[in-house]
Amino acid sequence: MSGALEPRVTVLLDPDWASGSLVDDVRRGLGGRPRRLPPKWLYDDVGARLFDEITRLPEYYPTEAERAILAAHADEIAAACDAATLVELGSGTSDKTRTLLDAFRSAERPHGPLRRFVPVDVSDATLRQAAVMLSERYPGMAVEAVVGDFTLHLGHLPRGDRRLVAFLGSTIGNFYVEERRAFLGALADSLDPGEWLLLGTDLVKDVDRLVAAYDDSAGVTEAFIRNCLTVVNRELGADFDPGAFSYAPLWDARMERIDMRLRAEEPSVVRVPGADLVVELATGEELCVEISTKFRPEGIAAELADAGFGVTHTWTDPAGDFALTLARRT
Ligand code: AVJ
Repeated sequence: MSGALEPRVTVLLDPDWASGSLVDDVRRGLGGRPRRLPPKWLYDDVGARLFDEITRLPEYYPTEAERAILAAHADEIAAACDAATLVELGSGTSDKTRTLLDAFRSAERPHGPLRRFVPVDVSDATLRQAAVMLSERYPGMAVEAVVGDFTLHLGHLPRGDRRLVAFLGSTIGNFYVEERRAFLGALADSLDPGEWLLLGTDLVKDVDRLVAAYDDSAGVTEAFIRNCLTVVNRELGADFDPGAFSYAPLWDARMERIDMRLRAEEPSVVRVPGADLVVELATGEELCVEISTKFRPEGIAAELADAGFGVTHTWTDPAGDFALTLARRT
């Protein structure tokens, strides 16, 4: 007889993008200046597959760097915090998380085994698959998956049982500074004093390596960024001509972030009927699709302190490329 518990899946997200926040995001983003498209819309099925390909590119170091930190330090992380519930925001396939789960389930852990795992992701299918796999692999641990958007649904996460929220992959780098502040504040509000945050952040480094990681020679990142036009065309009936745009990533030295843009190579009038919008673009005009901010340890600690977290530990990989920060809600 198997001791596996059935995973529970709670859906907080409207499955129809076109009726939900995509419309608001596109109206506000494409209608405003600078013109922006929020990066969460990059992850349709095609985008999710392209992102997966990015993580395996020779130029793209962050995924391996974070994996190396987890492999080397998961036991210390599990010993350092007394959590009985692990919540993972943007869990995807929960691939990297298994290293953490193994450490939290280990018999040697001083606080006893983890009782509950709450993966949170916008992708319903990926999440359900991961939930079933994890329930089988970790019998006795409850899996309570949440199909949700971590920019909207932090207040609806399951409560109690000493939570640790993991936000890995340096996804926090995709927020603009004001969004980051709001997100960390909302996260702190959703936690009780003494609960935990494990935050993955990519660190500032040599500019050539940073640029190469977002302008790879195989052109996968370009295809990933360009895919946002296809998403808006499909979901909102827009008539973007992807061929009329070139990929223009740049390093913004002042803000310490990679800024991934699409530049109009010819003047165009784009109709977006689903958002009731017509956008006129002059040659050279740019759409800001995604930023990827790079961090410094002092900056991370200061932002966390502002939000109401105290840093207790920081781990980096041997090359110093990436950091995992453990912090506690004060
Ligand atoms: C989603 C944060 C892991 O910013 O490095 C990778 C997204 N975009 N290449 C990053 C991304 C283009 C990525 N993360």
